[in-house]
Amino acid sequence: MYYIGVDLGTSAVKLLLMEGNGKIANVVSKEYPLYFPNPGWSEQKPEDWWKAVMEGLKELTDGFDKSQVAGISFGGQMHGLVILDKDDNVIRPALLWNDGRTFEETDYLNNVIGKDKLSEYTANIAFTGFTAPKILWIKNKEPENFAKIAKIMLPKDYIAYKLSGSFCTDVSDASGMLTFDVKNKCWSKEMLDICGIREDQMAKIYESYEVVGTLKPEVAAQLGLSENVKIAAGAGDNAAAAVGTGTVGDGKCNISLGTSGTIFISSKEFGVDKNNALHSFAHADGKYHLMGCMLSAASCNKWWMEEIQQSKEFAAEQAAITEDKLGENHVYFLPYLMGERSPHNDSNARGTFIGMTMDTSRADMYQAVLEGVAFAIRDSLEVAKSLNIPITRSKICGGGAKSPLWKKIFANVLNISLDIIESEEGPGYGGAMLAAVACGEYASVEEAAEKLVKVVDTVEPDPAIAAKYEERYRKFVQIYPAVKEIFPKIQ
Ligand code: XUL
Repeated sequence: MYYIGVDLGTSAVKLLLMEGNGKIANVVSKEYPLYFPNPGWSEQKPEDWWKAVMEGLKELTDGFDKSQVAGISFGGQMHGLVILDKDDNVIRPALLWNDGRTFEETDYLNNVIGKDKLSEYTANIAFTGFTAPKILWIKNKEPENFAKIAKIMLPKDYIAYKLSGSFCTDVSDASGMLTFDVKNKCWSKEMLDICGIREDQMAKIYESYEVVGTLKPEVAAQLGLSENVKIAAGAGDNAAAAVGTGTVGDGKCNISLGTSGTIFISSKEFGVDKNNALHSFAHADGKYHLMGCMLSAASCNKWWMEEIQQSKEFAAEQAAITEDKLGENHVYFLPYLMGERSPHNDSNARGTFIGMTMDTSRADMYQAVLEGVAFAIRDSLEVAKSLNIPITRSKICGGGAKSPLWKKIFANVLNISLDIIESEEGPGYGGAMLAAVACGEYASVEEAAEKLVKVVDTVEPDPAIAAKYEERYRKFVQIYPAVKEIFPKIQ
């Protein structure tokens, strides 16, 4: 049997065809546009996702025995707000996870409703990228659109709806809406009231590995697949990546270097830290997790190379950053190109270089970019350590994890071992695994992870380099507090 994982990302949808034994049979990627209509805004058209998914599914299964496709599931970019009217038309482009326009609504939620109440209702506080502030923004700034809302969805749930007709979501993705009671895995009545919405506008909630329906006959016919193909709820991309890297059960860690950067810690028990510095979300394995999320990770690398250097020769440019330079750079970079979520929660924060001298080279600046992202992930690791969560090793996945240099920088900045797994396709592979569990190929997500995920290499920190980075990190943490007051003044 074949299982398909659909990773609905920010720059592209990546689709993966997996055999029942975990072997990857095919991978296809389809890009779509990302719109920044105003500074700090970030939007995509759900219709673009749908077109790309349909084209991708056709290409993915072309040449394979389509009758053997048993299930489809997802890892989806989280928090995005998709709104449909009573006739199922998309009302406006989706507001994405890295959209910073909702600072007033976020401030209202955190400071007028209050962080204590939000944490009591949902286990989390408000961040500009979360869905509830977006719903309030539509209510305040586009009341005519707000009045039309019949269904509120997350990005991957729109695809599940188009494929199966099932208005559904899963616990991991719902956790990032701030309308979901994470501990009890149900919609929070209080939060729905605060946002001015009703429960019938919200999707039915499933565990990530549960079947939500089967392919609609007309969609099955278009794809040449059986109407019996099962659609499983799937997960937010980070929880799906965690499944795909075997980060399930208790106390395991995964770092994902996609457009965003996340550090994800699986936990058997529900837990919240008193400052809500890490997100407390449900996991795709039926349990829970903590997560820190930085908004610009691999996208800083892409920005520096493609926008500033006007080049796609990533490896050639990184070759100038030799091992003897690690831990020696005097240039620092704050990677806040889209503002920052964890741990600063500051949508005004901006990218910043500091420390250049006349002998600073292009390679030093690039190294600072790569190091700045690693330092920012370390900020979230420090929060986890302060909660007495001992992390000595982690998996690493995502586009950024393809660079051997960046992995070495990460291992030394974090001073932990980094396990590399066979498939780098974290969320897509995790999505396919969830489909396999939903179809009964594996009894549980943990069993699938145990049987399918293989560590093929480990990057160890070097004590001498890690010590130098330790010193540099102590300096890095002083930069943001020193410059943060200036950010709102230079918008
Ligand atoms: C997680 C987050 C991002 C997106 C990226 O909270 O906002 O990782 O899910 O797709």
